[in-house]
Amino acid sequence: MQITKYFAKDLFKGKTVFVTGGGSGINLGIAKSFAAVGASVAICGRTQERLDGATKELAALGAKTFAKVADVRQMPALQAAIDETKQVLGPIDVLVCGAAGNFVCRAEDLSPNGFRTVVDIDLIGSFHASRAAFTQLKETRGTILFVSAGMAYMPYAFQLHVGAAKAGIESMMKNLALEWGPYGIRSCSIVPGPIEGTEGMKRLADPKEMQERLRHIPMQRMGTADEIGFAAVFLASPMAAYVTGEQLIVDGGSGLSGSALFNIGAEKMLRR
Ligand code: HXC
Repeated sequence: MQITKYFAKDLFKGKTVFVTGGGSGINLGIAKSFAAVGASVAICGRTQERLDGATKELAALGAKTFAKVADVRQMPALQAAIDETKQVLGPIDVLVCGAAGNFVCRAEDLSPNGFRTVVDIDLIGSFHASRAAFTQLKETRGTILFVSAGMAYMPYAFQLHVGAAKAGIESMMKNLALEWGPYGIRSCSIVPGPIEGTEGMKRLADPKEMQERLRHIPMQRMGTADEIGFAAVFLASPMAAYVTGEQLIVDGGSGLSGSALFNIGAEKMLRR
């Protein structure tokens, strides 16, 4: 894996990383990056099948692994997974709150249960994980990383529910940095841009149209799950020991569109 060209293979040797929603997508990319630099990796998710596939990929990178079916909405199941991780792999040094749900829906069509479901998975699920892992993180003076999204600070059409949940996550991230800093626990978030091959992209964009839209991203391409993993490894590493309460945006500049109305118009005016 490319990450070991830049980070030492044993950077996280003897450390335990727990990733919620680690069975696929960005979260699996993060889990694999930690596995490649020597971490033991635990994942939870809603389906055993996905966890089995992900565990094989993590083990192929040489990681000790643990996987347990747990929906982050269910505190007892999540607490059990986090407690068992300590027995199997040792206390958690890095908690990645990645489990998320998304669908595109107009605000006027969004049912109360639809809104609640996304807030339950993303925001309350992230609180559940942080709360459940607190004792272990205090013991290890560990790090919490939240997987956020651009809609936390910029409204995206038909993403009211996700924006509300992710904005809550950003607030919680800063609050935990403040309250748990004295225990040596750091708390940061990562804001991924469009990441290729993920469930989120499948839900948010037609692949053909996405190709056309890439020119509006300053870096002119989608990101990869590995690139989110690199950011996560950096933030959880000793290199970031004095970084807490911070958001790291890894989006190829997608969030810089500013006045898209102006930018798209200006681009057309100058097109030859
Ligand atoms: C409108 C919808 C809907 C849709 C579900 N609901 N899908 N409303 N449009 N397309 C409503 C349902 O009608 C129901 O409300 C409520 O939401 C709960 O739906 P369930 O299907 O019962 O929920 P559940 O089985 O728990 O599934 C959760 C889910 C689902 C989030 C709704 O889509 C899911 O499991 N997704 C998989 C994970 C995922 O989405 N990953 C991508 C994350 S991407 P009623 O009123 O009918 O009871 C991401 C990145 C964002 O987060 C940033 C990218 C840039």
